[in-house]
Amino acid sequence: MNFRMSRRRRVYEGKAKVLFEGPEPGTLVQYFKDDATAFNNVKKGTITGKGVLNNRISEYLMVKLGEIGVPTHFMKRLNMREQLIRKVDIIPIEVVVRNIVAGSLAKRLGIPEGTVLPRSIVEFYYKKDELGDPMVSDEHITAFGWANPHELDEIMSLSLRINDYLSGLFLGIGLKLVDFKLEFGRLWDNDELHIILADEISPDNCRLWDVKTNDKMDKDRFRQDLGKVEEAYQEVAKRLGIMPENVTAEANEKA
Ligand code: TMP
Repeated sequence: MNFRMSRRRRVYEGKAKVLFEGPEPGTLVQYFKDDATAFNNVKKGTITGKGVLNNRISEYLMVKLGEIGVPTHFMKRLNMREQLIRKVDIIPIEVVVRNIVAGSLAKRLGIPEGTVLPRSIVEFYYKKDELGDPMVSDEHITAFGWANPHELDEIMSLSLRINDYLSGLFLGIGLKLVDFKLEFGRLWDNDELHIILADEISPDNCRLWDVKTNDKMDKDRFRQDLGKVEEAYQEVAKRLGIMPENVTAEANEKA
């Protein structure tokens, strides 16, 4: 742990990231770890350099989304593993958007992985590790007050726009956006409540398949022990044109 990290007050620690108090009120510092977990913490490991790459990849994608008018929590990247973000109240819902069948959808409904969906599907999961993030419907979300119907509409339309934009962006670098997970937060601005994209967008929470070979270029390589995990994250960064000079050296230095 470096000096910059230890002198800040730790606000929250998740499986892949740590949040620290930011320099200004209403800001946080988001630190990206190399730790990887799967199946709700059952499988644990390290992906060397992942934090450095996810910091860059998420920065790149959030900036691009900001340019098309999607409000995000991202402010600026501070160093190899940290970015400054706006502090939001996280809505306890994981939004999954799917274009191609994979993962839990393939398992739950017995549809072969790789089946192209007739249209994009949005699913909601209640963010609660102790329960294994159970799937919920909009009815549960509004009845239990996790989000109101207006907020949920906004979350749906932002998620679909993000899907349209990112599908095109990834296709441009030879990757199919199979599915991904988003998290949103609330931000008060001059008495107005905004829904803001939060968390991260990276190969940790997207499925990305090579257009030509269908090779998996995301955390499924870790989940399924497919090997070449680090290489997949590096390849995504390379294709986006944001591969840092020497990610392994930097990763070790900052670890
Ligand atoms: P799933 O097929 O396992 O439900 O995952 C769908 C997408 O959501 C996939 O891109 C991985 C991502 N995801 C997360 O980011 N966090 C999670 O806890 C889970 C279960 C999935």
